Amino acid sequence: MSDTRGTTKRISAEEIERQKQFCAEIRKMNEGRPGGPPLAYTQTYGCQQNEADSERIRGYLEQMGFGFTTDAEQARIIVINTCAIREHAEQRVFGNVGALVHGKRRHPEQIICLCGCMAQQPRVAQKIRESYRHVDLVFGPHVLWKFPEMIHTLLTRRGRMFLTPDEPGSIAEGIPVVRQDKVKAWVSIMYGCNNFCSYCIVPYVRGRERSRQPEDILSEVEQLVNEGYKDITLLGQNVNSYGRDLDEPTDFATLLEAVNAIPGDFLIRFMTSHPKDATQKLFETMARCKKVAPVLHLPFQAGNDRILRVMNRRHTREQYLEKIRALKALIPDITLTSDIIVGFPGESTEEFEDTLKVLEEVRFDALFTFIFSPRPGTPAAEMADPMPREEKLKNFNRLTALQDAISEEKHAAYIGKTVRCLMDGLSDDARYDLTARTPGNRLVRVTGERSALGQFRDVKITGANKWSLFGELI
Ligand code: SAH
Ligand code: SF4
Ligand code: F3S
Repeated sequence: MSDTRGTTKRISAEEIERQKQFCAEIRKMNEGRPGGPPLAYTQTYGCQQNEADSERIRGYLEQMGFGFTTDAEQARIIVINTCAIREHAEQRVFGNVGALVHGKRRHPEQIICLCGCMAQQPRVAQKIRESYRHVDLVFGPHVLWKFPEMIHTLLTRRGRMFLTPDEPGSIAEGIPVVRQDKVKAWVSIMYGCNNFCSYCIVPYVRGRERSRQPEDILSEVEQLVNEGYKDITLLGQNVNSYGRDLDEPTDFATLLEAVNAIPGDFLIRFMTSHPKDATQKLFETMARCKKVAPVLHLPFQAGNDRILRVMNRRHTREQYLEKIRALKALIPDITLTSDIIVGFPGESTEEFEDTLKVLEEVRFDALFTFIFSPRPGTPAAEMADPMPREEKLKNFNRLTALQDAISEEKHAAYIGKTVRCLMDGLSDDARYDLTARTPGNRLVRVTGERSALGQFRDVKITGANKWSLFGELI
């Protein structure tokens, strides 16, 4: 399972060139239309990986001559990029996709596409085929690179298309990108996951781990920095295993060092890291590299060793805490965040309390907390799960109450300090002008001139609550 060399399909430059020719042909069809360019509507669920994929879909759509709209009713093409991580995410998608049927009745020429992680599951594709007949195209993450060809086929012949091949996965370079943001950018450094945590659907829908070549990543970051991006997040399901599958194996710390060496004033972030692969070398590299933000998102999921074992996380609580201590020794002001699952099958309230103990020892700045959601096809979905939902909810509320108190205290400690922050957005709250991020990625609502957008500036922190900080530009 760990050696995936040779199984990764690298899509050739000629293939991507061919896709761009499909874009050019569609653009020609679109140019003749009265009333200006046709519009595309995209909606993205799930993680940053999916956001990054949607930026590629929009890149292709732009090359096909589409404009963009935020009103699905106006769109000639609708693309819904979906997430399968929890049942709730799937239900929202089914609800929203179901509602599109009315628009399609009024505009039968509309093309509705469903892609992403949900689409890759045979049971979902089947349900769409049978019960959501207004959906024209279903495709999984492995074939995103041939989106133009799929659209071309739909435009030139009638019928629906389902493309969800079950393969270990592909890598394609050179797909055009339309990014949402001008200050922050995502850069995927690898795809897929080999870990098979027993609750998780990702390895089934995203395939095996495969790394992009370092030179491709470095030239993308260089270009982003030249375009003025200030905050770059390197993405992967487990960035700590980056490079192991390459013909010339390397590691994530080495990549981080090389990204750090790119000239320019910018911050480097990364996610997600798996504790079992987080190394001392990584921590030392983080401490040494000035552009690497002092923040680590290190999910531990549960504080009890028996639960960690059935989750197939392959680390113990003590090993996790040991790594956190080592990191704090090197970077005392590190910002720490984590993911936690409450109510894993068979987790007793006593075992859950071990999770609270980890919170008390580590004192995370923020947490992403979830109640276990059975994903069909994963081992955990088959495990006995006797605890009633109300009891899980009680534990969940204890967890969030404890974390809220810690976050509030940690945020209060910023008051009176001056922090160099990146102005990353204009505020939609009239009391503030800008939103900003500390180097540790805490949200700050800032008063001051809106022209500072996109700049690193000193902010005097004047207030805080459990969610964010408040301050003024100096
Ligand atoms: N690759 C990342 C996580 C990706 S999914 C990592 O390993 O850290 C993001 C988070 O969703 C996970 O960390 C986990 O906390 C949560 N999650 C995944 N599957 C889940 C499920 N079946 N039920 C509830 N939460 C889940
Ligand atoms: Fe899922 Fe585990 Fe892989 Fe993260 S490391 S994506 S939780 S299987
Ligand atoms: Fe969801 Fe797929 Fe990301 S399942 S969390 S969109 S990798």
